[in-house]
Amino acid sequence: MDLLKVTGGTPLHGSVQISGAKNAALPILFATILSKKKSIIRNAPLLADINTTQKVLDALGLKTLFTLENHQIEVDGSTLTSIEAPYDLVRTMRASVLVLGPLLARTGEAKVSLPGGCAIGARPVDFHLSALEKLGASFKIEGGYIYGIAKNGLKGAIISLPFPSVGATENIVMAAALAEGSSEIQNVACEPEIVDLVRALRTMGAKISGEGTPIIKVTGVPELQGMNHSIAPDRVEAATFLCGALLTKGKVTALGIDQSYMKYPLDVLERIGGKITRTENSITAEYVGELNSVHFTTEPFPGFPTDMQAQFMTLLTSAKGTSTITETIFENRFMHVPELNRLGAKISIKGNQALVDGPTALSGAIVMATDLRASASLVIAGLAAKGETTIRRIYHLDRGYEQLEQKFALLGGNVVREFEK
Ligand code: UD1
Repeated sequence: MDLLKVTGGTPLHGSVQISGAKNAALPILFATILSKKKSIIRNAPLLADINTTQKVLDALGLKTLFTLENHQIEVDGSTLTSIEAPYDLVRTMRASVLVLGPLLARTGEAKVSLPGGCAIGARPVDFHLSALEKLGASFKIEGGYIYGIAKNGLKGAIISLPFPSVGATENIVMAAALAEGSSEIQNVACEPEIVDLVRALRTMGAKISGEGTPIIKVTGVPELQGMNHSIAPDRVEAATFLCGALLTKGKVTALGIDQSYMKYPLDVLERIGGKITRTENSITAEYVGELNSVHFTTEPFPGFPTDMQAQFMTLLTSAKGTSTITETIFENRFMHVPELNRLGAKISIKGNQALVDGPTALSGAIVMATDLRASASLVIAGLAAKGETTIRRIYHLDRGYEQLEQKFALLGGNVVREFEK
């Protein structure tokens, strides 16, 4: 299994190109199931999760081709032969459940392995299923699989989600795009990745409005064209580099990122004491002196994103005073805390709140990556720590960060991958 050796102490300096967003690319790739034509997706990030998504599409009989030079994925939608997302793939990536809406809409049937729990919480799919039921699907769960059927096809409906779930919003919008009649979906997620999915669906001829607001309206169409879309940049990757810049007392420009995706976290970086410079398609974070403690709560967009919580917590270990971070999206998303404490951080947990006492000088140790964003937080911690940090179980990292070592190396960071015997 691969591990990372991170040698700390050098401030990060320079510019880094931000890749396409993983969380936009996954639903967009699944949306290609909706069309019998060929789809082209540009600016796709080169990640393990993208590879898994291709495997899921291939298992359905679709033909996918990733061209490395231009980060383009072609999907041939004409060859759908199966309606099953198998256990071995869903197990490694629970976003595979996003085949449900598109498959039910296109074929009236779907079989998807139940995703099960994961490191950051229970993450059930009940909102997905009850929303799809409103469109006329029915489900049974047997042998660890969800079987969905829509005997008479899907029909538009008014649906209100109990919570603005990102995945449930994606599943239901994709299904409604091919349903008969109109749908109004209330209390939907407003995340930028939803906006990107809707833009992609529009290139297929879908009739959707309201993305980025709590109500999305969809007028179903009988058929969709192939997609032609470029994936929006990854705000979580950008935030990881910006936190790394301030933590190592450096200056980093994230290129190709739209600052409107990141208003809340950038405000927090400014409150912490970073100098943030925004242009139309770049954001620079510069360390200009002592960092301050802050208090924030993770919330659905436009609130503070849970996917940036671990990286900001790591940054706050170098801020003066006690910061509090309240996690409201996932009940078990503080698994990085004991690992950060191994590096010398002083973080305690009370219920869904973490208290970070700072500043603390971090020093290298052997740590274990527990989930995707937690892994990234350990890398930036290692870059700020004295000595060498060894990070084990980095397969999490490869699910969501493209060429992380190379990108940090361009900024002067020393991150080396080794194979653990
Ligand atoms: C997506 C993102 C993930 C991010 C999360 C929240 C992708 C591939 N993943 O995950 O990186 O951290 O949004 O911004 O885009 N819930 C239910 N029942 C459901 C669905 C969700 O109880 O049917 C709960 C979850 O357990 C969680 C909360 O709702 O507590 C939010 O989950 P959701 O927004 O659905 O997250 P994902 O789509 O899984």
